[in-house]
This record gives sequence, structure tokens and C-alpha cells, in this order.
Amino acid sequence: MTLTNPQTDWWKTATVYQIYPKSFCDSGHKGTGDIQGIISKLDYLKMLGIDAIWLTPVYQSPMVDNGYDISDYYAINPEFGTMADFDQLLQEAHQRGIRLIMDIVVNHTSTAHHWFQSALGDKNSPYRDYYVWKDPVNGGVPNNWQSKFGGSAWALDEQTEQYYLHLFATEQADLNWENPVVRREVKDIISFWAEKGVDGFRLDVINLISKQQDFPNDDQGDGRRFYTDGPRVHEYLQEISEAVFQKYGSVTVGEMSSTTLEHCQRYSSLDGKELSMVFNFHHLKVDYPNGEKWTQAPFDFLQLKQIFNHWQSGLNGKGWGALFWCNHDQPRVVSRLGNDGRYRVESAKMLAASVHMMQGTPYVYQGEEIGMTNPGYERIEQYHDVESTNMYDIMVNQHGVPHAKMMAILAQKSRDNSRTPMQWHAGDYAGFSQVAPWLDVASNYQHINAEQAVQDPNSVFYFYQRLIELRKRVAVITDGDYTDLLPEHPALFAYRRCNSQQTLICLNNYYAEETECVLPEGSDVSSARYLLGNYADLEAQTVHAHQVLRPYETRVILIESPL
Ligand code: GLC
Repeated sequence: MTLTNPQTDWWKTATVYQIYPKSFCDSGHKGTGDIQGIISKLDYLKMLGIDAIWLTPVYQSPMVDNGYDISDYYAINPEFGTMADFDQLLQEAHQRGIRLIMDIVVNHTSTAHHWFQSALGDKNSPYRDYYVWKDPVNGGVPNNWQSKFGGSAWALDEQTEQYYLHLFATEQADLNWENPVVRREVKDIISFWAEKGVDGFRLDVINLISKQQDFPNDDQGDGRRFYTDGPRVHEYLQEISEAVFQKYGSVTVGEMSSTTLEHCQRYSSLDGKELSMVFNFHHLKVDYPNGEKWTQAPFDFLQLKQIFNHWQSGLNGKGWGALFWCNHDQPRVVSRLGNDGRYRVESAKMLAASVHMMQGTPYVYQGEEIGMTNPGYERIEQYHDVESTNMYDIMVNQHGVPHAKMMAILAQKSRDNSRTPMQWHAGDYAGFSQVAPWLDVASNYQHINAEQAVQDPNSVFYFYQRLIELRKRVAVITDGDYTDLLPEHPALFAYRRCNSQQTLICLNNYYAEETECVLPEGSDVSSARYLLGNYADLEAQTVHAHQVLRPYETRVILIESPL
């Protein structure tokens, strides 16, 4: 793999920062974040050193799924501001050398979208065929496909006695991509934002857009195998890419639900015919025993390493992946795989290094850079997320799971764990807003906040700043190949990256006990130096083959010669 064109491949040495606007910063007195709030924090982001912002949806929306239910793709939700605010954000980000990536949600629209409103109840509407409609089977739903938020994936339109498909909430109706007019609408929408000067797009659940057209019953599962990486998905992506992404030179990242490496090699193929890169989530299912999310479970460490090995080796030279632990759908990683008590700072840094030293483009989710934790909510009323409230209802009211047990599961798994307001300072409402926020702030904001982090040279913030900067400077981080050095070690995640000039070794202790290893034979320790660590005294030391790692310690070693 070579870095062919730094102009067009800027994203290969870049780090992206994800903003969830509702929870980022409230510039008014609403208790919800907004675009002016984001503008007021651009200098903070510049200081962190990020290259681009991924902005989750700010379009007109009833907010059933916090903006992933879009009712007008050409308008800004007044809760977030105006189109003038958006234009200002784009301009001010660009002035600081920060690019802007918009979230495009085109697997489905809100049922409040005028297309759906026209289609509902009227088989002759010009928009009817924008969606997926099916007749009842045996007086009930057309098949047994399940919504990802619980319950059937079909909802009845009583007037026409047909069902529409919704893979997510009832208020999110799936678009019919078989219809070429829908695909033209999608190209128009994306072109509109590209014309404004937006630099790229994150494509929401984009590998679900092509459904197997006979809509079979799934006797082995919830139906996902009939629409995940579906029959025409690559064709559709190539069509959009040629018409829009290649024309505007947009960077693109596709969110790939339950995907495979083989498909991702094609989605992110280096010929640039589909997308620049992909998100996959397999490494974030290591605490879903037998694929079951709604359980309380520890994570499977050996499986985590196997998954990274599979994807790092499999994409090298073939495609490009996003590197991430956190986003608005995932709990906070320091609570999930690290230690959010005594070793919060050490483990947040170790987890950061373990993905930032891999090949790909890192994504940092707001608050991750200061080591924010899950909030540990104790009351069901504190949860707002549609998935969490649906699942509470299904598990407790329909399946009889005890309330306390479900609360413990939500405290571990709910998407609201990452949606709590950004902790800016130790004052009221963590400086997020001047009034009570829409979602409760985590109670630890008085000691975990951005102001404290910026004042403390040993904070998680400055560690992220270094990781972001190292990626630009040390080529092997971008182009080296990947070898898992200790796949069976019960506590250490140790991997090596190698190009024709450099070798980098990243050692990570995932546990609170000391652990040791010996660097593999052939590692030339005499010319090795520590590039980075999360314990103060490391970088001045000599590198020895025998390594003893302290609790949650990370050590990054650079050897200025290939193996
Ligand atoms: C994606 C989004 C998630 C949303 C879902 C449906 O997974 O990240 O927040 O609920 O798609 O649009």
C-alpha cells in the first residue's frame, strides 16, 4: 500500500471527530445542543488537532431517533439552528483547516416526510413506490423480519391494507431502492450538500439498502441475511459514487451493519469505485454472548484480538477501514473495556493507543478525548433512546425480565450511555447548557470535564492530541502491515506494524494486574525507542526485550528499520 496522492487521500493520515449535536453544546437556553454551540467549540477541536468533523444528522426531523428519521433533507432542524448557521459552521471549520462530513440517512426516511405522507393511504400516490409495500400473508405481517429496535419490521397502513417495511422504528420507513426515481432523489440530495462545499459523507446503514426482492420468511433468524449486503448494493453504491462522490471528490464512510470482510473489501476498494472507507462493528460485539446484545456480559478478550487481526490483515492493500471504539450508538469504551474507576485515565489512553496505532482512519467521539464514562442511570425515566425504551418494554413488560435486571443491562448497553451531555467544565450542567439538559449529565462531571483536561498536561486529551499528531508523522502507522504477536496471551494485546523502513510494536495491557512478555525474536531492541506510553517515566527508558506492563499500560515502540 502506498500513499499515492496526499491531495485526494488526505483522510489516510487524518483523524475525524464525531459530533452528536443534540448533546454537544447549547448556545441558547434550550437544554439541547445546536450549531452555534458547535461553532463556539471549533478552537477546542483545532487544539485537539483533528482534521474533520462528522456531524450526525441536523436535518428537519421529528427526532424520534434523534435525527436519523429525516423529514426534509434540504432543511436544518430549527432545534439546531438555521441554514445560515450551517453555512457559517462550514465556513468557520474550513477557515481552521477542518473539513466537514455530513451524515446521510437514505435507507429510510421519517414517516413525516412528505413522500411518505403522500404514499400512506394512497396506492396511486406518485410516491407510493418510494417505499416497500406488501400485502398481508394469512391475515398478518408479510414475513417474520424483525425491526432492529424490537418487534416486527412491518407496520400496517389500514386504509390500503398493505404493510410498509421499517427495519428500524415504525416512524422510519425503508426506501425502495429498486425504484430508479428514489436513486435519483438520493443523488440530488447528496449533490445539494456537496455543492455547498461539504467535504464528505457518512452513509447510515448503507449496506441494508438492497433487499432480496422475494422477501422470504427467515427460518434461521431475524431476516437480516436477506437484506444485509444485499443483491444490488454494490451496483447502487457505484451508481451514486460515479454521479456524486467522484464528481465532487467527497470522502465517504459507509456504516456497515453485520457485514463481512469480503464485502468491505469491495465497498472500500482502493480503486475508489464505491466508498473511501467502512465502519464495521464486529469488534464491538465481543460483549454480546451468542450475538445477544441485551444481556449483561464481560467481553471476550481473545475474540477481540482475533477480530482485529482478521480485519487489519484482510483490508491491508485491499480496502480501508475506520478505527473506532465509540459513537452515539455504543456505550463509553472506558466503562466497557477499560476501568472507569481507579485506572480511568490509564485505561482510556491504553484503549486509544490500541486502535490509533492500527491501519485506517481513527474516529474520536465527543467526550472520548477526555475519558467520559457511562452515566450509571438508576431510573428508567432517565433513558430517552427509542431502542432502549422499546427494549425495556419488550423485555420487562412482555418477557417478564425483572426491572432491576433490565436496568443493569441498560446501564451497560444502552445507546444513551454515550449521548449524555458533553462535560465542558465543573459548573452547572457541566457547562453544556444553562438550563436542565434533555438527558441527565453524568454525575462525575465535576472532575471529568474538558476544562480540567486542557489544564492537565497528563490528561487523556493530550494523549489523543499526540496520537493524532503521530499518525501524520510516522508513516508506518498508515501503511505498515499488521501481525498479532500474542494472539493467545490472556491479558496483553500486542501487535506489530511493518513497512519497508520502520517497525512499530504496540503493547497493551487490558487488565488491572501487571503482566509480562518477551518481544519476538528478531525485534532489534538496540535501535528501538519508546514512541509513546501512558505512564510518566517510560519514554526516557531503554527498550528491553523483556517487557513488564503495569495496570492498563500501553507502550508503543518504534524501530527505524524493517524486520
Ligand atoms: C445507524 C445510526 C443509528 C440509527 C440507525 C437508524 O445505526 O447510527 O443511530 O438509529 O442507523 O438510522
